Amino acid sequence: MELRSVKGEGIDSWKEVTLIYNAALRQVSTKMEILNDEFQHVHQYNPIEHIKARIKTPESIVKKLKRGGYESTIDNMVKYINDIAGIRIICSFTSDIYRIADMIRKQRDIEVIAVKDYITFPKASGYKSYHMIVTVPVYLSDRTVDTKVEIQIRTVAMDFWASLEHKIHYKFEGDAPEYIRDELIECAKMVSDLDARMLLLNDKVLSSGRER
Ligand code: GTP
Ligand code: MG
Repeated sequence: MELRSVKGEGIDSWKEVTLIYNAALRQVSTKMEILNDEFQHVHQYNPIEHIKARIKTPESIVKKLKRGGYESTIDNMVKYINDIAGIRIICSFTSDIYRIADMIRKQRDIEVIAVKDYITFPKASGYKSYHMIVTVPVYLSDRTVDTKVEIQIRTVAMDFWASLEHKIHYKFEGDAPEYIRDELIECAKMVSDLDARMLLLNDKVLSSGRER
């Protein structure tokens, strides 16, 4: 990541960093919208239900740096925090997730630096989602800055589960009672079943449509 010119502390550097991450986020959002439009045009179908984008607040950046044992400097946040710019892509079906991930991978100006497939390998909590850390070039007047963006891709059902789990996690400060954790794991199984059944149903509808 080249943010060398943004060294040095102070509000100006912070503003510059925010501007760059915002630009990166907008670029990735636009790329996703274009893919969705093209997919609609070719297949008469939208793989993306909706997109959420956000920039991490300065408070949570500082908190995360502290947790990692790093000083709160611009250099450290750029180096160690991968989710300053975050985009969440919500799809209908699990198959859409891998399709979108492949389309992202194929884009020439996107470099994928890390992938975590919590769909094939869910977390112990029951959490499922497909995560990618990528960089996109942000073209400024005098230089180009390859900027990190965290992309989370999940189904509507996975998103529903993750939102509630996040709320519970927050409420109990990460220490929810066992019966609640067990219930969440049970719900995660139901989410996986629902996703699998909906995918199957959709496939059936598509193939019966072709026969008619
Ligand atoms: P963070 O420090 O939390 O960003 O995690 P990480 O650097 O180990 O990366 P990971 O891929 O595990 O998680 C990144 C992001 O995924 C988190 O910031 C959350 O938005 C989401 N996430 C990961 N695990 C869970 C989970 O168990 N429940 C929920 N609701 N979200 C999760
Ligand atoms: Mg995060």
